Amino acid sequence: MRPTTVAGYEALARAVTPPAVWDYITGGAGGESTLRGNLASFAGLWLAPRVLADVSAVTAATSFAGTQVGLPVGIAPLAYHTMVHPDGELAVARAASRHGALMVVSMYAGHTLEDIAVAAGGSPLWLQVYPLRDRDLVAGLVARAQAAGYRGVVLTADSPVHGVRPRDRAHRFQQPFPAAAVNLGAQSPAAAPTLKQLLDAGLDQTTTWRDLDWYRGLSSLPLILKGVLTAADAVRAADAGVDGVIVSNHGGRQLDAAVPALLALPGIAAAVAGRCDVYVDGGVRTGSDVVKALALGARGVFAGRPVLWALAAGGEDAAGHLLEMISEELLTALALCGCSGPDDLDRSLIVAETGTWARLLAR
Ligand code: GLV
Repeated sequence: MRPTTVAGYEALARAVTPPAVWDYITGGAGGESTLRGNLASFAGLWLAPRVLADVSAVTAATSFAGTQVGLPVGIAPLAYHTMVHPDGELAVARAASRHGALMVVSMYAGHTLEDIAVAAGGSPLWLQVYPLRDRDLVAGLVARAQAAGYRGVVLTADSPVHGVRPRDRAHRFQQPFPAAAVNLGAQSPAAAPTLKQLLDAGLDQTTTWRDLDWYRGLSSLPLILKGVLTAADAVRAADAGVDGVIVSNHGGRQLDAAVPALLALPGIAAAVAGRCDVYVDGGVRTGSDVVKALALGARGVFAGRPVLWALAAGGEDAAGHLLEMISEELLTALALCGCSGPDDLDRSLIVAETGTWARLLAR
């Protein structure tokens, strides 16, 4: 029987995934406080539904950086899908396309950008890049993505170095990895350092706000900055002309004790005040979670680990089923909240538990 919840896919994936790979995809940085905080921040909020509203025509459709999407839930950029299933990103792209869900393809994907575009069949894709020392490599990837019909570029800003992840340390997670970053050509696979050492060596730690123009100039596609956690940085990004920010702590994989993304969202949405799109990721597991994030000011959310869990458990079919479940939950939650679509969601739907949330929302 198929799982009926994200937790069901998590359990199934764990049973079929080698422990080192499982810990890489599921673990977080340090003591994993941020990983837990992302989930707890959603759990600390409740919804106050409105009754007797006409919900005869509920839709989950919206737009991400000007591109129409069928769901306000995109696929977060996740490296090496092929670590958990040989079809990797191709399977996820096909599954996402069935729901019109936007997929962010990691520069560390296990299939070529072009093959993923074919699998997506016109459904929207963004390319994620890290600020690498090898700028020609980044420029080449963005050019390939634009030629293949990708609709946006995501620059990950929270990773001048990769987080310290004790679970990876425990497994001495190192080359040869059970997957290759095929779009990076000769860079991959490199010699045999740990994954953190390999990734850190490629990153340009001198990258600053001054470099944003260079990334914007690589293509005519929207540029989205991922990994923003403060209102000041979000305002600076909007001032710099980015099309969107993703409020994210990288799924708790970078700075341990970084603020849960959902907690940072309301202040960022208020500060940006519509000057660019605001998205959030980290801890989204149900349709009601999506409603909470949108009610707090997000245009959309991104799901990460759940997608890899479903992919590991059952390839394209399971990834599609996961999105189907979230979509059904979301449409149902919208109707039960008395809302006809994402645009109807606002703060008035949110009831915060006393403590952190209540203090934050009272501001
Ligand atoms: C890469 O983005 C990772 O979090 O491992």
